[in-house]
Amino acid sequence: MRLDKYLCETADLTRSLAKRAVRREEVRVDGEVVKDPSTHVDETSDVNWLGQSLVLTGPRYLMMNKPTGVECTSHSSHYPTLHDLIDLPNAERLHPAGRLDVETTGLVFLTDDGQWSHRVTSPRHASAKVYRATLAEPVEGRAAEKAMQSFADGLLLKGDSKPTRPAELHMLTPRDARLTIHEGKYHQVRRMFAAIGNRVETLHRESIGPVQLDPGLAPGECRMLRPDEIQCF
Ligand code: URA
Repeated sequence: MRLDKYLCETADLTRSLAKRAVRREEVRVDGEVVKDPSTHVDETSDVNWLGQSLVLTGPRYLMMNKPTGVECTSHSSHYPTLHDLIDLPNAERLHPAGRLDVETTGLVFLTDDGQWSHRVTSPRHASAKVYRATLAEPVEGRAAEKAMQSFADGLLLKGDSKPTRPAELHMLTPRDARLTIHEGKYHQVRRMFAAIGNRVETLHRESIGPVQLDPGLAPGECRMLRPDEIQCF
């Protein structure tokens, strides 16, 4: 990779500041001052800027147990964001691969690999997402059977032109549901329950595809994904 690109990725410089740093002879590669921003460097190069060693990291993949009251956008004026919870260098380069509402808790992936997050979220890949919802109104007996059937058939949500994809609803108790969906429309779970005359009080994502939220993660904590978890997508 070009030296100026390497500086952008490791020192968080813009391309023009990276070029300026090189031209000002602030950058050494393998101990030698380099003046050409297009000089080729790679992960074996010892790149040093103003005495600071710059290490190239590969793409990063994390899971977080998102707490309630946190936004998945990068700039929020009202709530803290996921980035406020991540204590890693260049955390702002990570983006969520699929968002949760402010109030929703549970599994969120964060990465700087755009192709990977596209595979996680793309409707074509239809990764199953499993949610636990507590409901305002109890659903039991015939009403529970009807709700399961409606979710399996697909519901036309307000403002949408196509019905939801078949989803699997299990009532664990009359007010505690587990729902598996295979897409990620805006506020989908809340809108699906609203469509059958109910209201979601709390919502928690347990898994995305085969990857479960690590039970060892307290709300707000994250960990790197294991290679086998990354390769699921
Ligand atoms: N569905 C919702 O309604 N909210 C979420 O955060 C995720 C899915």
